[in-house]
Amino acid sequence: MKPSIMQGARILATGSAVPDNCISNQTISNIVDTSNEWIVTRTGIKERRVLIGHDKSLIDLAAIAAMRALDKSSMDPLQIDLIILATSSPNDLFGSASQLQDKIGAINAVAFDLTAACSGFVLALVTATQFIQNGSYTNILVVGADVLSKWTDWSDRSTCILFGDGAGAAILQACPSNENGILGFQLDTNGSQAKQLSIAYEEENQELLKDSELPIVQGSFKYITMNGKEVYKFAVSEVPTSILKCLDLLSLSSQDVDWLLLHQANERILHAVADRLSISSSKLISNLSKYGNTSAASIPLALDEALQKGIIKVDDIIVISGFGAGLTWGTVVIQWKC
Ligand code: UT7
Repeated sequence: MKPSIMQGARILATGSAVPDNCISNQTISNIVDTSNEWIVTRTGIKERRVLIGHDKSLIDLAAIAAMRALDKSSMDPLQIDLIILATSSPNDLFGSASQLQDKIGAINAVAFDLTAACSGFVLALVTATQFIQNGSYTNILVVGADVLSKWTDWSDRSTCILFGDGAGAAILQACPSNENGILGFQLDTNGSQAKQLSIAYEEENQELLKDSELPIVQGSFKYITMNGKEVYKFAVSEVPTSILKCLDLLSLSSQDVDWLLLHQANERILHAVADRLSISSSKLISNLSKYGNTSAASIPLALDEALQKGIIKVDDIIVISGFGAGLTWGTVVIQWKC
């Protein structure tokens, strides 16, 4: 959708954080029947960062990423009006954004979680943009953070090789409409395929409660399950379509794209999408060899690293696409303005 803009919105600064513990493919091959060669060839992943022990949580990573973004934008946490935390691995099922608000001292901010798995950062960025472009808020902190290591079945070689933990943050700020940097978006959902990738709630046998007056069945969430082949096919067919629809709406073409920043799920997916769009792979932003699939964190983490490297220039067009569980997918086209 091409927003009707009363007020411009642009990303002022980004920040990111990953755990210190680095897990190599070699280490994983000591746990399950796999090899460095298989993982690198099929995914492009060489290592990932994982929270180990009790020392840090999702909130710690999110707070470090947020403070780095705030520092870069020379902004005080008290200036933040809204915090959107995109995560599927919260500390609390009621939401973790309020804990993040407290941790960084952003006491003037409203804070809520947004759950859309690996598309979470795209959905959160688009949501934040609406609040700015319609004039409701001026400064918004958008964070994508996940610790899927907590929900990974470490005996399942088809999934445990893929995921890593991390957080990425962006400060979105109101600006004059002629400086608007969030140009348009395209969002989609196909709930009929939700089973392809999920962390399902499972009921547990509760003999004790069975004959009680209140036979409520309770359960818990278990591990990530994924039909990798189906999710792969979905990504390489739907993501290029989403990008083309979004570019078309903005009267842009693939040739206008300076950078392609896709959810960091699999190097083969990144190249297949670029190929289908006839975009040179030299325009792909990729860091998944170091971090694996960090779910909602992957896009802001890669954006932050690209900005730190200085490869993104003012007025560059960046096409950002997320895809994953739901199934959800979405594209947001931005023009770098800072
Ligand atoms: O973040 C949300 C989005 N997620 C994604 O986009 C993930 C999309 N899917 C993928 O990236 C790929 O499907 C995977 C990387 C998960 C799997 O790659 P693949 O090329 O689709 O492999 P496969 O599942 O078709 O398995 C091929 C073979 C099988 O053996 P057989 O049946 O051919 O004998 C698997 O059992 O590879 C075997 N295999 C492994 N072998 C060594 C599966 N996992 C492993 C492993 N190590 N870790």
